[in-house]
Amino acid sequence: MAMASAMNGGGNGGAGVGGVMKRMGLLRVQYYCVMGAVAAAVVLATLRYMPAPATTSSTVASSGGTVRSAATADETAAAAAPGDGVERSKKKKYVWDGGEEEGRKKAAALGVVLFNFGDSNSDTGGVAAVMGIHIAPPEGRAYFHHPTGRLSDGRVILDFICESLNTHHLSPFMRPLGSDYSNGVNFAIAGSTAIPGDTTFSLDVQLDQFIFFKERCLESIERGEDAPIDSKGFENALYTMDIGHNDLMGVLHLPYDKILPKLPPIVAEIKKAIETLHKNDARKFWIHGTGALGCLPQKLATRKDEDGGLDEHGCITKINNVAKKFNELLSETCDDLRLQFTDSTIVFVDMFAIKYDLVANHTKYGIEKPLMTCCGHGGPPYNYDPKTSCMINDKDLCKLGEKFISWDGVHFTDAANGIVASKVISGEFSIPRIKLTTSVVRPKKSKDSRL
Ligand SMILES: *[C@@H]1O[C@H](CO)[C@@H](O)[C@H](O)[C@H]1NC(C)=O
Repeated sequence: MAMASAMNGGGNGGAGVGGVMKRMGLLRVQYYCVMGAVAAAVVLATLRYMPAPATTSSTVASSGGTVRSAATADETAAAAAPGDGVERSKKKKYVWDGGEEEGRKKAAALGVVLFNFGDSNSDTGGVAAVMGIHIAPPEGRAYFHHPTGRLSDGRVILDFICESLNTHHLSPFMRPLGSDYSNGVNFAIAGSTAIPGDTTFSLDVQLDQFIFFKERCLESIERGEDAPIDSKGFENALYTMDIGHNDLMGVLHLPYDKILPKLPPIVAEIKKAIETLHKNDARKFWIHGTGALGCLPQKLATRKDEDGGLDEHGCITKINNVAKKFNELLSETCDDLRLQFTDSTIVFVDMFAIKYDLVANHTKYGIEKPLMTCCGHGGPPYNYDPKTSCMINDKDLCKLGEKFISWDGVHFTDAANGIVASKVISGEFSIPRIKLTTSVVRPKKSKDSRL
């Protein structure tokens, strides 16, 4: 029954009925194994961070770290079969971060609603919930003081965005316990790509999930029942997107001129997602570009001859050029959409500029080692070992309170995300240059978003 509804709901999504049918077939036949394995393989292989069920970690660690390794998915399928899930969840009692009564009241008064789409950069516990991944300290140690499923020692940028809007942190769509969708939904899942089918929860699937959620809400209201969000809520909501990093990670091994033609299709998916949302009454968009990927300890520690040289700040020039090119294309796409949707506010945020500044001017922010992980292996210069992860024993963990940019080689620390978020929110790095709070409270019709 749930599937039948999903099909109805998904029909207007970006993928169309054919895509949905194909997906449903996949889901029906091998739902638990394949979906679990693919996501686990992707998360572990590309991001090398989440602790796997003990049985899968060795398989994945030796898989070579590509996004689209079908072999890896198959291999892990057997290992990732359900079974020890119950055992594991008994051992650890989670305290979710859903309850922040004060903020919730304020948000309800303001009617702040957000819908977020993305990957690990904005995952607030989605992948951990859907995969049943056992998460352990030191994850969450700097802020929540317990693991929450975020790939950080604390908050992600989206959490700071919620805080600046006086609303509680967004609940992941597929988290069964402690979720509260009165201020919106977080569809982001770590490891996800913008390109459909490359990952289980690619952007098109996240969009279908949104449409599913919206239709169920409106249906409930029509029947006179309660729903967390009404049609006004959907219309006035802020739609945030932070995706594309995993797509880029999948092509960075190619020579620069071979990477360039791979970028437009990724950006096209983000454009399609914005168009689909607009068709579904969304009018306020907040789109993040990608960061300075060439400064990530993971990339630096695994640098090959083909990657070329380092720039004055020790980052890989080629990779950063790819990131800048991607952002340029995405920004242009947002320009086009702004002309097309004159009833909408479409904000593009230059995450590269923000994150590169953090590395280049690190001393200004109280950061000593901008290219080294807080939680990794092997010590300086990068404290990153591609063969193991932050969460495995005998890690070299920085002192609590010591400011680092990188938590695990790919993801940022709570401290770094806080600095980045303050710049995101400021509007100084966005086109148009408007503050996040302005874009949210701005009435729907008072446009000219082109400043
Ligand atoms: C470093 O900070 C200075 C002064 O704020 C700024 O002009 C410069 O653009 C920053 N460097 C980078 C790479 O962002």
